[in-house]
Amino acid sequence: MRFLSGLLLLPWLAGAFAQDGAHQTHEYQSDVARLRKIVINSLYSHRDVFLRELLSNANDALEKLRITALTDKSLVSPDEPLNITIQLLPASGSGAGRVVIADTGIGMTPDELTQNLGTLAKSGTSDFLVQAESAGAQQAGNLIGQFGLGFYSSFLVADHVEVASVPAGGNGEQWVFASGAEDQRFEVFPDPRGRTMRHGTEITLLLREDAKEFLNPGKVKELVDKHSGFSTSFPIYLQTFKTEEVPDEDSPVPADPLEADAIDTSPPVDDSEAIVEDLPEDASPITPPPPRTKNVTRETWEQLNDQPPLWTRDAKTVSEAEYTDFYKSTFRDTAAPLAHAHFAGDAGSSVSFKSVLFIPSELPSEFWSTTQARVEGVRLMVKRVFITNDLGEDALPKWISWLRAIVDADDLPLNVSREQLQSTKFLAQIKSILVKRAINLLTKVASAPASINEETGEEEGQTQYRAVWKAIGSAIKLGAMEGSAGQKNKLGALTRWTTNVREFVGLDDYVDNRKKGQRQIFYLAGVGQKAEDLAKSVFIEKLHARGYEVLLLTEPMDEILLNNFQRWGGMAFQDVAKKGLQYGDEDMDAEADKAEQAGIAERFAPLLSWLKKEYTGTVMDVVISNRLVTSPCAIVADRYGYSANMERLVAAQQRSGKDTSQDWMTEYARKQRSLEINPKSPLIEGMLRVVEGLDWEEEYSADEGEKPAHEPTQAELELKEVAQILLDGALVRSGFEVTDPNTFFARVDTVLRRSLGVSETAQPEVEVKPAPPVEEGPLNPEAEPVPEPGFGEDPFQPGDFDYELPRNPFPEDPDVQAFAAHDEL
Ligand SMILES: *[C@@H]1O[C@H](CO)[C@@H](O)[C@H](O)[C@H]1NC(C)=O
Ligand SMILES: *[C@@H]1O[C@H](CO)[C@@H](O)[C@H](O)[C@H]1NC(C)=O
Ligand SMILES: *[C@@H]1O[C@H](CO)[C@@H](O)[C@H](O)[C@H]1NC(C)=O
Repeated sequence: MRFLSGLLLLPWLAGAFAQDGAHQTHEYQSDVARLRKIVINSLYSHRDVFLRELLSNANDALEKLRITALTDKSLVSPDEPLNITIQLLPASGSGAGRVVIADTGIGMTPDELTQNLGTLAKSGTSDFLVQAESAGAQQAGNLIGQFGLGFYSSFLVADHVEVASVPAGGNGEQWVFASGAEDQRFEVFPDPRGRTMRHGTEITLLLREDAKEFLNPGKVKELVDKHSGFSTSFPIYLQTFKTEEVPDEDSPVPADPLEADAIDTSPPVDDSEAIVEDLPEDASPITPPPPRTKNVTRETWEQLNDQPPLWTRDAKTVSEAEYTDFYKSTFRDTAAPLAHAHFAGDAGSSVSFKSVLFIPSELPSEFWSTTQARVEGVRLMVKRVFITNDLGEDALPKWISWLRAIVDADDLPLNVSREQLQSTKFLAQIKSILVKRAINLLTKVASAPASINEETGEEEGQTQYRAVWKAIGSAIKLGAMEGSAGQKNKLGALTRWTTNVREFVGLDDYVDNRKKGQRQIFYLAGVGQKAEDLAKSVFIEKLHARGYEVLLLTEPMDEILLNNFQRWGGMAFQDVAKKGLQYGDEDMDAEADKAEQAGIAERFAPLLSWLKKEYTGTVMDVVISNRLVTSPCAIVADRYGYSANMERLVAAQQRSGKDTSQDWMTEYARKQRSLEINPKSPLIEGMLRVVEGLDWEEEYSADEGEKPAHEPTQAELELKEVAQILLDGALVRSGFEVTDPNTFFARVDTVLRRSLGVSETAQPEVEVKPAPPVEEGPLNPEAEPVPEPGFGEDPFQPGDFDYELPRNPFPEDPDVQAFAAHDEL
């Protein structure tokens, strides 16, 4: 008569509050109320999660018991199986009915009930509250799972919750925690039913009126299938009732003896299983004979998770959807994983194991803010029994601390403790196998052949790897810098780059795509810039025009990473903002071209010498450029000098006070640069003509620093000015800062005046009105209201602009764009 006794509980629930004696009333810790509110507000539209959370908690309690029982066998007995049961009990009278979820796990003492359910003991919970208050529903859902606060999700569907519990191994009473969804306090009292469990916890949810759907067994089965089927290796049973019409042996003696025989041979109905009996109505004694049957409702326990654990199955029999559901419920993530690998292995020390590993859809939020991430994504099992997911601080290399995996070892003794396990060779071997497998998985995804999109019929390359790269690309770069020598190369091959001609280019791909004779991998770095803007840099002009590919590096780590490699596939990395750029086809030039080069060198020699003199102390050298097409000049760093990008990085580091000891090095490195001029630029041609007209060789005597023999001519002064502007322009163009912006603009001003025929020395005629004398007495804001700080009233009304703004293809950085559009200064 279990069902009836279930219904009889209702009066008890009401009665419980009248109890005296050991009845305790507690205030909730203030954060709990806040938390309940967050849970209810943010998850209201996802209230299904309550079931997943409560089942996860039940699983945790069972796992805890199983681990504790490894050292204290008396806690469990073979005839007390570890399981989770769900009962759905429709209301008989008022109320919406109840859902009862019980586990036979470790259980709680009255103190633990108070502690665990009434306070937020777990450290980091206030962080959680802060995060959750600003997070969206999905994130809040994830956070709640991660912080182990799932219990409060019961209030999503219940007006009132009761938790009865007995600790394993305890001999005391069974206690109950009870609270309403809106209550500021909760009660803890001995269970008026006495002790109904040997150990474990039973949660009774008095459903809200609008949550009746959770009494529907179909709904509950669907939810368990979807979210929880994989989250536990313990059986989850759902109590169901089947009503069947069975022959009724209590009915009067049948008229037909044949029929009587038939009834007698039918199996007798077990009285204890009979739950509801509908006695047949009195039928007419004449015709026809009444159907001598009765309706019997039987209680059955249906196991909802009857599949063996996913990782123990043959990978061929597991569907993608199953992997996804398994991942979501096991690692409490709401987003699907990006890729997985399922394998069996041998950890060398003859310990065989099975494992599934997953690439999550994003890096943990604290990934970049901690130096050594705590690895909690690897769940270690022995013979399907969960042992630990805390592999300690240095469990996995930082770069791969995001990995999620299940590892189930077959041949380890079950009673091995977590501490012992951590000191065994097994764990070290497992770690290295996981890293290796993860890299193999990434490599497999990265090298997947292009597939055909079924809808568009177009070829789609690498959709999956693009998603992976977007999610964890920066971590892969980190691994390529920090990993072991073997890993570095594999991870380097997994990096993807944007170039001036393509995007998502691997280094191997770049090498395959090299031009004849090309022995350098060209790159240009500009941290924080957009690749499309970098592609317009002066340094790429000629490379681009000639059809060479240049890697565009936009992240701080990129340049350091490439420098770490030094070479890739036999090619050296070449910063195109630095000296040493070689196309590799110079030797292939026709004789005529070589002659032309020599001719240019000879023709421009006077200008080069003049500029070298002029720029003494500013740049090391002035040379004819091989990298410019339209720009007149560029500043190129020496091999050991700083490119503009490096200079900015170093400056940022010095500003943040991290690195001041190396000022002199910075100073030195800054000077290691040359000016390259473009002999094809009309501006340079013009300068050459002016220099040729000067008699300057005489002016500067061989002795450095000696005054010129005569005053410089006007033409010469003007040329000097142009040369300075040219240099400053080259600096800006090349990404550096001008040494002295004021002087720079004063010079520009002079040149502008000259081109307009305005006097170069005339000052603007202005009369400056001085401020009135100091005001006497106190300020009286009421007499004359002080204007509000800010921009005042918005002069525009909605509708003032009834035309559409033109679309700007480069809306975020118009300056760079405008600058890049100028050819000559
Ligand atoms: C679940 O476990 C309990 C206690 O071990 C046991 O009494 C009960 O019969 C089990 N339930 C089912 C459906 O197997
Ligand atoms: C048993 O239930 C079915 C369906 O509800 C009904 O049609 C039938 O008459 C019932 N039988 C008896 C003996 O009450
Ligand atoms: C584990 O159990 C085995 C046999 O059951 C026993 O020999 C061994 O000493 C136990 N190890 C520990 C650490 O308890």
